[in-house]
Amino acid sequence: MAKILGGIGMSHVPTIGVAYDREKWNQPAWAPLFEGARPAYDWLAEKKPDVLIVLYNDHLNAFFYDLYPTFSIGIAPEYDVADEGAGRRPLPMLPGDTAFASHLAEQLVDQEFDMAVFHDRPLDHGVFSPLPLLWPHRPGWPGRVVPIMVNVVQYPLPTPMRCFKLGQALRQAIHAYPEDISVAIVGTGGLSHQIHGERTGHNDTEWDMRFLDLLQHDPLELARMRHVDYVRLGGAEGAEVIMWLAMRGALSDDITQRHRNYYLATTTAMTTLVLEENVVHAPQSDEIRAGNPQTEGMEEIPGTYPFDLRTGVRQTRLNRFFWQLRLAEARTAFLEDGQAACTAAGLSAEETALVLGRDWLGLVRAGANFFVLEKYARLVKETNLEVYASMRGESYETFMATRRVPDAT
Ligand SMILES: [Fe+2]
Repeated sequence: MAKILGGIGMSHVPTIGVAYDREKWNQPAWAPLFEGARPAYDWLAEKKPDVLIVLYNDHLNAFFYDLYPTFSIGIAPEYDVADEGAGRRPLPMLPGDTAFASHLAEQLVDQEFDMAVFHDRPLDHGVFSPLPLLWPHRPGWPGRVVPIMVNVVQYPLPTPMRCFKLGQALRQAIHAYPEDISVAIVGTGGLSHQIHGERTGHNDTEWDMRFLDLLQHDPLELARMRHVDYVRLGGAEGAEVIMWLAMRGALSDDITQRHRNYYLATTTAMTTLVLEENVVHAPQSDEIRAGNPQTEGMEEIPGTYPFDLRTGVRQTRLNRFFWQLRLAEARTAFLEDGQAACTAAGLSAEETALVLGRDWLGLVRAGANFFVLEKYARLVKETNLEVYASMRGESYETFMATRRVPDAT
């Protein structure tokens, strides 16, 4: 049973990371921030959650406008630190939780939150600016992170109400997890700031305080506001606080503010907020739902291998090997030396044997998606119909004799 201990709201100003790496913790200009974050660090050290679910936004480091998802959940086993132009920060790799994150994705989709899913992408300062202030990390981090990326950089953004409802759906999905883990929810960003245009430097401390009060006591009033209200009050980039609404939506109404700190130094009002559940909800058996409700029973349908999130993570290398065959140089390399191409792609001896033996059914069973296998079939001059026959264990002629129009080739 997964339990929610509470939530944390924290700014993710990139200069926090710079100041941290330069060890400016005690300098007068930075001490109010670092000292102000310490109670959140101590709270996590006391509560020891196994997993932090971090609601954050990417700042065009791992995602770009050509495909920027509204909501995307990370399901990778670990995450690297994005190089945002000044080199990679000296932080260790961050453990993810593929099983839990995949469960959350399946449950959220079942609740009609159609999440995009990512792995093999680094996390930027939306996660790593606050994280070292919350968790120790030498030699490694003490727990796992499930990142949930929210679009707050390209309109249309998800509405504040949608973010709040995402949090409510997330709460149900967490409580549905059958494993015995504890979770804290972290929302990052804000508070008031604007960092583009003539209005750059806009802040409003009065609004920031009202926002924090409403977040705890009347989040629905915040959820009913529009993006323009957030921008008018808290600045254009300050609208990213809608991510805090998702954090708040995942909590109950029986919460206590354990800590609040506010420090406005230059352009962004930096805050650390800790909201603790007064009574940690222990999910009952009727709340727990393991697996994907939409695919329950599919394993009983013979000859069928649904490609799911776990398969995608487990077989990223194999699928990417075939996917790369869209590129002429990858095709040339394979035709010159197939064995060497498989080795270079990091395939195991068993996988290499399946590839070179064109064992189509074996490849599907190993976790290859049919739509990347097609690219390999084109390269080795096999038609899809020949691949279908092979997977059925039939000759081409036998398979085609089962078709209504055998000449439609
Ligand atoms: Fe941001």
